[in-house]
Amino acid sequence: MSEQKTVYLADYRPYSHVVESVDLTFRLHPTATRVVARLSLRQNPARKDRDHLRLDGEGLKLISCKLDGQAITPAVDERSLTIAAHELPDGPFILETEVEIAPEANTALEGLYMSKGMYCTQCEAEGFRKITYYPDRPDVMSRFKVRIESDLPVLLSNGNPVASGEGWAEWDDPWPKPAYLFALVAGDLRAHSASFVTASGRPVDLNIWVRPGDEDRCAYAMDSLIRSMRWDEQVYGREYDLDVFNIVAVDDFNMGAMENKGLNIFNSRYVLASPETATDDDYYRIEAIIAHEYFHNWTGNRITCRDWFQLCLKEGLTVFRDHQFSADMRSAAVRRIEDVVTLRSRQFREDDGPLAHPVRPESFVEINNFYTATVYEKGAEVIGMLKSLVGDAGYKRALDLYFERHDGDAATIEDWLKVFEDATGRDLSQFKLWYSEAGTPRLKVEETWDNGVYTLTFTQKNPPTPGQPIKHPKVIPIKVGLLNPNGDEVVPTITLEMTRAKQSFRFEGLAARPVPSILRGFSAPVVLDRKAPPEERAFLLAHDTDAFNKWEAGRALAKEVMADIALKGAPVSPAWLDALAAVTFDDTLDPAFRALCLRLPGEDDIAQTIHAMGRIPDPAKIHAARREMTGALAIRLGEGLSRLYKDLDDNAPFSPSAAQAGRRALKIAALGLLSRRDGGKLAASAFARARSMTEEVGALSALLEVGQGQAELVSFAARWGRDANVMDKWHALQIAHAEPAEAAAVAARLIGAPGFDWKNPNRFRTVIGALAANHAGFHHRSGAGYRLVADWLLKLDPLNPQTAARVSTAFETWPRYDAARRKLARTELERILAAPDLSGDLREMAERMLAAG
Ligand code: BES
Ligand code: ZN
Repeated sequence: MSEQKTVYLADYRPYSHVVESVDLTFRLHPTATRVVARLSLRQNPARKDRDHLRLDGEGLKLISCKLDGQAITPAVDERSLTIAAHELPDGPFILETEVEIAPEANTALEGLYMSKGMYCTQCEAEGFRKITYYPDRPDVMSRFKVRIESDLPVLLSNGNPVASGEGWAEWDDPWPKPAYLFALVAGDLRAHSASFVTASGRPVDLNIWVRPGDEDRCAYAMDSLIRSMRWDEQVYGREYDLDVFNIVAVDDFNMGAMENKGLNIFNSRYVLASPETATDDDYYRIEAIIAHEYFHNWTGNRITCRDWFQLCLKEGLTVFRDHQFSADMRSAAVRRIEDVVTLRSRQFREDDGPLAHPVRPESFVEINNFYTATVYEKGAEVIGMLKSLVGDAGYKRALDLYFERHDGDAATIEDWLKVFEDATGRDLSQFKLWYSEAGTPRLKVEETWDNGVYTLTFTQKNPPTPGQPIKHPKVIPIKVGLLNPNGDEVVPTITLEMTRAKQSFRFEGLAARPVPSILRGFSAPVVLDRKAPPEERAFLLAHDTDAFNKWEAGRALAKEVMADIALKGAPVSPAWLDALAAVTFDDTLDPAFRALCLRLPGEDDIAQTIHAMGRIPDPAKIHAARREMTGALAIRLGEGLSRLYKDLDDNAPFSPSAAQAGRRALKIAALGLLSRRDGGKLAASAFARARSMTEEVGALSALLEVGQGQAELVSFAARWGRDANVMDKWHALQIAHAEPAEAAAVAARLIGAPGFDWKNPNRFRTVIGALAANHAGFHHRSGAGYRLVADWLLKLDPLNPQTAARVSTAFETWPRYDAARRKLARTELERILAAPDLSGDLREMAERMLAAG
């Protein structure tokens, strides 16, 4: 609402004061909570000047202010409380403020708010300033003591419990922390408890707190937590450091989860699971997010960020760690493929459009808008590249040094790279470009075969991005293996280190011209531009020993086929059909891998590919092409599909294991194709017999895709109508499978239905996100998709700007399309910008997106 200023990395200065300790007292009340904050302060010796004291504060009603016990009247405006330098004592002093806030009226879900009768907080990135006056920046770390007064039975905060009685509880966190890691929860909650003993013998009480009735759906989250704690000890040598670890599930939450010290707060959809309510994908996500937030205890909390420009220091690293964990818990190959699919569909998309920015941005308006795929996913890929370059042993030495040198610090990317330099003796100045330059490099490959010498020549192009016209060559680790024409590997994986714009690598002593397997494991986040005949792709799909590149060969082939159909009306390639049939029926391959091969590239992905070819994507044609390929595949796979389905349709008791999930995924892929042949008969019976949510959703999805499933939708709603997180699937499915011309109308009907709680971020994201993800529906030439999304962004923005701004990225690809669509999209973005009282969050996004076209 108030106009925002741009913040620059280059302007960083340490804070004027040190906060030795903080004592907070909360007298909870829905409309009039009192917060008393007692800060022990002294001047920061790192600052030579003698500055005033400026505390952040937003939406606070100041009741009183005392300096060393004397009432004073500080200068207060909409964003801060300031005490002039000459009014401050020379030595240490105590500042005590009392403010009043109204958690019940807090719809933005930042700061202290209420969700279904329960109090909870979300302070990252700048929410603590909505609770009390404080230097709300991550480099100000302090010891927090908290007293909560409330009649609610469960009162939680960070650290260890120290004392409690009727209507109150006190907590003490011995670890200095920035305010963004503060948390408080109060409610009528039940615990699912367990205990853990750390490697050095420290006992820890573990609790997952949920609303009464949900206790029996916490077992998987608890199991994931225990495995995460053990894994971090075994792989990184990191132990937990408090007597208790609490997790709370809340229904109203802007993000997935939050790593507050000793008191993680989770969106309930990433905690609660039972076979009847959670899909295999839900199980996977719960495990990964529990791990992610737990891992932050060391990468984020013990070592935090100096300022928000360094966000990737904690997020990129923690995503990298949770990927490693998932790879160890499940199939590493399947996880890598899935992670790359996500990287391309979210981060490459972002990097290729108006919102492109470096992994470490140099300026921002609203920090909440920089929790992006680039900071997270590309931030994790950059660490993966570092690890490839320095090797596993080098990585381990560097991380040990990082924890040793920076424990207790608020650190920077420079600090992070320095430990790698010191631990390995490498110069990382060129590597650092990955942090400062945006855009996805494109890698071209040429090969020559000459008298037994095989040469690969790579050329890298680093495209311009908004605000960064000039780019420099990056360090690119390219993992390569070579196969001979029989399909045997003649050169096992090696890492080529590319540092120049154009560079050649020679291989000698080969008996025959090899087939190269390039960028194994997706060793760098680049687009590999390499023309290859379909036969070579099919050959690699059949023979590559690198699971990622095996899959990638089929993926590249499918993309080419889809683009050819959409652009030239080409027929479905028999080479692709044959290659896929061979994989589908190869029982020696992991079912999960086969299921991944059967999942065709998404329509947005093809639009991105076509755009990169310098052509204009037509969403309707891409949609038709994908359908045509699925239809042709169903015919090509023929009777074998029924056999495959029967083989996989066993009666084993349910387990969320990756192995069983893989079988279910392949079974459902087969069911989807079979439905094209039998009009949904088998899917209808599969729905009726479903023994897990994965099967239920899989069957319903197969039915909707062939225009059936109306009765099943009704019975699903009758069964799950009271579980909003389950009903999200019901809403999403209908929009995902709607015909392009109908999608906006379907979404409008669902979001506008009486009783639909669109103010809840999960509900809003489900419906508007599903419409945005229906590529042909969102980009329908009528403009109905664009209009509906803009209408609802404008409706949500005054209540919850953070979620409105995040969902607005639906529009980030608009410059790709034809003039008529661009005009429609521009009209909607301009309409958003013209709204009175538009939030700073949504304004920044709309302005950046519009600047592109
Ligand atoms: N620190 C974030 C949560 C967060 C993000 C708070 C943005 C405030 C603003 C947390 O660790 C996180 O990254 N959560 C992710 C899930 C994770 C598995 C990538 C999320 O919430 O999406
Ligand atoms: Zn995180």
